[in-house]
Amino acid sequence: MSKLNIILFGPPGAGKGTQSEKLTSHYALKHLSTGDILRAERQAGTELGRQANAYIEKGELVPDAVVIGMVEQMVRAHAAAPGFIFDGFPRTVAQGEALDAMLKSLDMDITTVLSLEVDEDELTRRLLERGMTSGRVDDQDEATIRNRFKVYNNETSPLKEFYKAQGKLQSIHGMGSIDEIFGSLCEAIDNSQSETY
Ligand code: C5P
Ligand code: MG
Repeated sequence: MSKLNIILFGPPGAGKGTQSEKLTSHYALKHLSTGDILRAERQAGTELGRQANAYIEKGELVPDAVVIGMVEQMVRAHAAAPGFIFDGFPRTVAQGEALDAMLKSLDMDITTVLSLEVDEDELTRRLLERGMTSGRVDDQDEATIRNRFKVYNNETSPLKEFYKAQGKLQSIHGMGSIDEIFGSLCEAIDNSQSETY
C-alpha cells in the first residue's frame, strides 16, 4: 500500500489547519504545517524565526529556498510515516516542483490535492475572529489580511493549474460546519485511494 500524501490547499482562513488536525488523527498521518513551524521558530527567537518575522508581519512569503529546505528536513526526518498532510505548503509553483522532486527521490508522490473553496468575505470574517484569540499578528490587521489574499491570488493559486494538469486537484466546498467539510474531505481522500492507475 502506497503512502497517503495529501496537500490541503486554500487561501488564508480556508480551514486548512483545523481540518488538518482532524485528518491527521483520522488517517494517522504526519501534519506538516510550515506556518506553524515558522511561528514556533519566531517564538523561540531562532535565526530562522528572526528572518521569517519580517515576512510574516507583512503577509509576504518567506523565500522559496528557506521554506523548501525546512520541508525537506521534516520529510526526511519522518520518511517512515504512513504519509503527510502538507498544510500551507507549497505556496508557489517553484515550491510545488521542489516538493515533487523531493518526494520522488524518496520513492513517494502526492496522492491528492484538496482545495478548500471559501469566498473572500467569509475568509476575512474568520481571520479577524481568529485574530482576537490566536495572538497571530497577521490576523489582526486588515491591510495585512488583504495582502495575504493578494499574495495567495498572485503566487499560490497558480498551483491549482499545476496540480490540475497532473490530474490531482479536487475542489472541496469549504463553507459550512467543520464536520460537514471534514466529511467531504474524507470522501475525496477515500475516492483518490480507491482509484487504480
Ligand atoms: O500557512 P499560514 O497561513 O499559517 O502562514 C502564515 C504566514 O507564514 C504566511 O502569511 C507567510 O508569511 C508565512 N509562510 C510562508 N511560506 C509558507 C508558509 C507560511 O512564507 N510556505
Ligand atoms: Mg494554517
